[in-house]
Amino acid sequence: MSRRRVAILISGRGSNMGALIEAARSPDFPAEIALVLANRPDAAGLEVAREAGIATASVDHKSHPDRESFDAALDAVLREHAIAFVCLAGFMRVLTDGFVERWQGRMINIHPSLLPLFRGIHTHRRALEEGVRVHGCTVHFVVPELDAGPIVAQAAVPVVPGDTEESLAARIIVQEHRLYPAALRMICAGDAWLEDGRVVFREGWDAGGALLSPPA
Ligand code: GAR
Repeated sequence: MSRRRVAILISGRGSNMGALIEAARSPDFPAEIALVLANRPDAAGLEVAREAGIATASVDHKSHPDRESFDAALDAVLREHAIAFVCLAGFMRVLTDGFVERWQGRMINIHPSLLPLFRGIHTHRRALEEGVRVHGCTVHFVVPELDAGPIVAQAAVPVVPGDTEESLAARIIVQEHRLYPAALRMICAGDAWLEDGRVVFREGWDAGGALLSPPA
């Protein structure tokens, strides 16, 4: 099996990065994490990646005059490391249309809401304000419009009385850590792909049960 060379782009602690690294340790995982790249040299996740023996790099957005030159530098590092596929994992920079188009079909992101609800930031706060009873996370292909790309996978959790942004974030991050490796596995194994702006799956799956919130 040839494993696809994946780069993970981070800005912070990198807990999703950690989940992807852990999953890729399995010999049957169809991707290898070949690079962790941060836009902040002090991103905590870089140290975690180094300790895991993974190549790291940082491209500081503050040392680039505009988005175009920052994205060109990112692209150069990805090419240097012969990267085939990119996972954004808490990467808090908006990428230029040119960069996104260059990586179209080869770049996914994890977002802490059930898209298309709550694009952008403060997703848990807004979910609480809206009073939704189900919230969650989404893995999607990246397109130029922010948080708008074709959806690969979603995980839902109940929102319960007394929830705070913190309790909701804690419930959802557990699911992010399950969902992101599962989605990357599907894509790199050729079981899901982007075609004409939609995600196509090789096989269907059982509908299973429903999440009722509150439970019936
Ligand atoms: C995660 O919750 C991820 O979904 C979110 O940032 C967090 C990063 O945590 N991403 C976004 O909001 C992207 N718009 P992590 O660094 O521990 O993986």
